[in-house]
Amino acid sequence: MIRLGTTVLSLLSLATANERNYPPTWEGLDARPIPPWYDRAKFGIIIHWGVYSVPSFGSESFWLYWKSDEQKQAKYEEFMNKYPDGFTYQEFAKDFTAKLFEPKHWAELFAKAGAKYVVLTSKHHDGYALWPSSYSWNSMDIGPHRDLVGELAEEVRARNLTFGLFYTLSEWFHPLYQADKTANFTTQAFIEAKIAPERKELVLRYEPEVFFSDGSGDADYTYWKSTEFLAWLYNDSPVKDTVVVNDRWGTDMACNHGGYFMCIDRYNPAVLLEHKWENVMTIEKQSWGYRREATLSDYLTIQELITQLVTTVSCGGNVLLNVGPTKDGTIDPIFEERLMQLGQWLEVNGEAIYATIPWIHQNDSGISGVWYTEKDDAVYAIALHWTEVLALASPRKLFRASTNVTLLGNEDAGNLPWTVTDSSVKITLPAKATVKSEWAWVLKIVSTPTSSCTHPETHLRMLVTAALLWTVLSYY
Ligand SMILES: *[C@@H]1O[C@H](CO)[C@@H](O)[C@H](O)[C@H]1NC(C)=O
Ligand SMILES: *[C@@H]1O[C@H](CO)[C@@H](O)[C@H](O)[C@H]1NC(C)=O
Ligand SMILES: *[C@@H]1O[C@H](CO)[C@@H](O)[C@H](O)[C@H]1NC(C)=O
Ligand SMILES: *[C@@H]1O[C@H](CO)[C@@H](O)[C@H](O)[C@H]1NC(C)=O
Repeated sequence: MIRLGTTVLSLLSLATANERNYPPTWEGLDARPIPPWYDRAKFGIIIHWGVYSVPSFGSESFWLYWKSDEQKQAKYEEFMNKYPDGFTYQEFAKDFTAKLFEPKHWAELFAKAGAKYVVLTSKHHDGYALWPSSYSWNSMDIGPHRDLVGELAEEVRARNLTFGLFYTLSEWFHPLYQADKTANFTTQAFIEAKIAPERKELVLRYEPEVFFSDGSGDADYTYWKSTEFLAWLYNDSPVKDTVVVNDRWGTDMACNHGGYFMCIDRYNPAVLLEHKWENVMTIEKQSWGYRREATLSDYLTIQELITQLVTTVSCGGNVLLNVGPTKDGTIDPIFEERLMQLGQWLEVNGEAIYATIPWIHQNDSGISGVWYTEKDDAVYAIALHWTEVLALASPRKLFRASTNVTLLGNEDAGNLPWTVTDSSVKITLPAKATVKSEWAWVLKIVSTPTSSCTHPETHLRMLVTAALLWTVLSYY
């Protein structure tokens, strides 16, 4: 009932969103409801692509691990032994050709994977921009000589997927940033001369509906002028009504302020969170950027990916899954296979993922590996392991004579037999050989709402709705 109330309230706030003016304070900005497209989408793709895709060794943080005094690692220097003396990171850029980049193929693949939004690294911590930025070395001047952001945005949107951008605030070796850092961020040359105008240019030019801010942790949000930027984004930008943002806006902001909470990379708490959140994670376990030395065991299996998706969505999160393309602009078949498998699973089981809300229980209290979602009148039990008879403890009390259980993909087989015991409801699944789904199986549990009197929750929901409607009507 609380969830229903919250939904009605968010709709109300949205109805008045246009008239609202968000002040540049966290209290004001945090009160903005997250546009509903985002929670419904559940699954997006992020792409890490840039000059680091040329060495494509170790990590997207190649330059940092090669050159930074504090973080350098021997293996990067060894890797560079085969290059001429004095070779610089910037010299890799001319080989970032994107020669075989077909944005249409990428967008088609992401759509087939079942993703609903696509986020591209417009600029990573090396400072190289994938669009003709007026403030950065970029893909129009050196490398592909193409506007990679613009080209991908067009193809992604042509497939009705939402387009978003990752944008780093800090840059490892930018002299202005280094100077501000040395001054303990008491000076703001870098943010004023570069970041503030550049991020605005980016939004005005591409109208991203996700703004994934990164690299903010060293300095306070006041240094980054985060609240000023967000107030502009929410009040005056061309995406003010639809844009969603994360929480990387300065020291200690993650998991505290902004839009959805991303907290740390690969965050997946396995419990329900009050605030909307996202699990940003990689298919390849070690690196966000393409890494040529990765072997098969470095990639998550399809079972591991589905487990992440299911546990995240059950607990109210979205999954943003990373792909690292090559310098040529191709996506390795291992990534392609994982994405196609996710799409294959979602084709059958997407009903239990997209536009769902968390149920009262996130995972079963009796058996492990069963997670729940809810939509309309159905509760979905998602089993990560196959078993012929599934004994579910958490939904036992939902069951009444009229309750139907079906297996998604096998609706033709009709309702599945079930029996209620003292501690669980035992559901007999169809013969494995006849089952359409692979890797994880979804039971759809539907009970006819009989009468509100015998169904206390429905009764309460109606009361809450009536009370809310009354409030709304008297408001106008
Ligand atoms: C995108 O949405 C529009 C409008 O709903 C529709 O006409 C079009 O066919 C869709 N395109 C794709 C590729 O799904
Ligand atoms: C910055 O902070 C450090 C540690 O508190 C201090 O030692 C240093 O003098 C400060 N530098 C400036 C330029 O204020
Ligand atoms: C699942 O539910 C049980 C009991 O309700 C709980 O103890 C457990 O920590 C939950 N989480 C996972 C990941 O199994
Ligand atoms: C349950 O299944 C039966 C038989 O197919 C059908 O008549 C009935 O309407 C279903 N009930 C619900 C709540 O879907």
